[in-house]
Amino acid sequence: MSSRRVAFEVLRRIEGDGAYANLALGPALSASELSSADRRFATDLVYGTTRMRRACDALVDRYITSPPDASTRTLLRLGAYQLAFAGVPPHAAVGETVGLAPRRTRGFVNAVLRKVAGAPIEAMQWPSDAARLSYPDWIVDRLTAELHDEAGAALERMNEAPSVTVRADGYVQDESSQWVAAAVEAATGESVLDVCAAPGGKSTAMGSGGALIVAADRRPSRARIVSENTARLGLNIPVVAADGCAPPFAAESFDAVLVDAPCSGLGALRRRADARWRIAERDIDQLAALQAELLAASARLVRPGGRLVYSVCTMTAAESIDHPTPEGFDVDPAPPAVGKWRAYGSGWRVLPQDADTDGMTLIRYRRRS
Ligand SMILES: C[S@@+](CC[C@H](N)C(=O)[O-])C[C@H]1O[C@@H](n2cnc3c(N)ncnc32)[C@H](O)[C@@H]1O
Repeated sequence: MSSRRVAFEVLRRIEGDGAYANLALGPALSASELSSADRRFATDLVYGTTRMRRACDALVDRYITSPPDASTRTLLRLGAYQLAFAGVPPHAAVGETVGLAPRRTRGFVNAVLRKVAGAPIEAMQWPSDAARLSYPDWIVDRLTAELHDEAGAALERMNEAPSVTVRADGYVQDESSQWVAAAVEAATGESVLDVCAAPGGKSTAMGSGGALIVAADRRPSRARIVSENTARLGLNIPVVAADGCAPPFAAESFDAVLVDAPCSGLGALRRRADARWRIAERDIDQLAALQAELLAASARLVRPGGRLVYSVCTMTAAESIDHPTPEGFDVDPAPPAVGKWRAYGSGWRVLPQDADTDGMTLIRYRRRS
């Protein structure tokens, strides 16, 4: 099976069945006999076509009068992505993509893609900035309200493939997440709780420094993934399946607590190609309420003089600096020692365009003694 065929089948699962892009792609690649170069190409086709879905539709919709069936729509997106964004030569993009169409739609797909190929993208009259950048309207509006004139660069950066950063111990982790783990400053002899730990990236990053790390996550299946990752790295990190809103730990029993909270993920959209089409703006309010609960419950676990570190891979104030400082805590004004953070209200953040990382927001609190 060719890389385009693999990509087409995976895209059909994502667009037709609502499959998660990463979960659908991995097994399809494993089952294929593609070379590593072809796997990379198939991966780019799947993630790129998914990210640029709205822009691809805009490019195609100029030339069609009625909506095509779902499978033909997927194929047109795949073709438009190759032509407009992947730098594939037009004869290959059109010819090879048309070759995937069933006989009854082949002429139609060929005609539309040849028209897309013939019109320079620079001359495209986009219906909106959101269509050009390929996001739902609400994400463009929200990030423009949050980031002002930095929004465009953030949105454009999150249309590119993510860089891959591998830690010294072999764990693949975005650099901004490594900076969050470093910001906890877990020191030898300390006990540190990671309340929302799965899959274990930050727990394992903190775990090699001589502190006792306890990892928790609400879902047992996800807690198991933390156990697998700590075992693979040879780390001794106890893992507990527990709800961070009602944590089963004694008050004031940790030197530091990290709340790497579930969030809208608007900073990590380059990494999760399909996430922009899944999240809804109303989710932000629900997540903010959960985060506030996690923060308040976690604060009770910090000893006097200890640290509470809060992080989210998003860029909304509602999910970060709008949370009230927990009672009895002060914001730690010291800049984190590691990372390219910029000051942001009571906290720190890195935007996707700053340092080739996910967008991330961090707030550090200290409990009064
Ligand atoms: C952003 S992810 C954590 C990523 C992790 N810290 C890492 O670096 O690999 C958020 C996690 O919070 C967990 N979660 C959601 N609600 C929770 C709750 N009430 N209590 C504890 N964990 C929760 C989710 O299962 C998810 O694994």
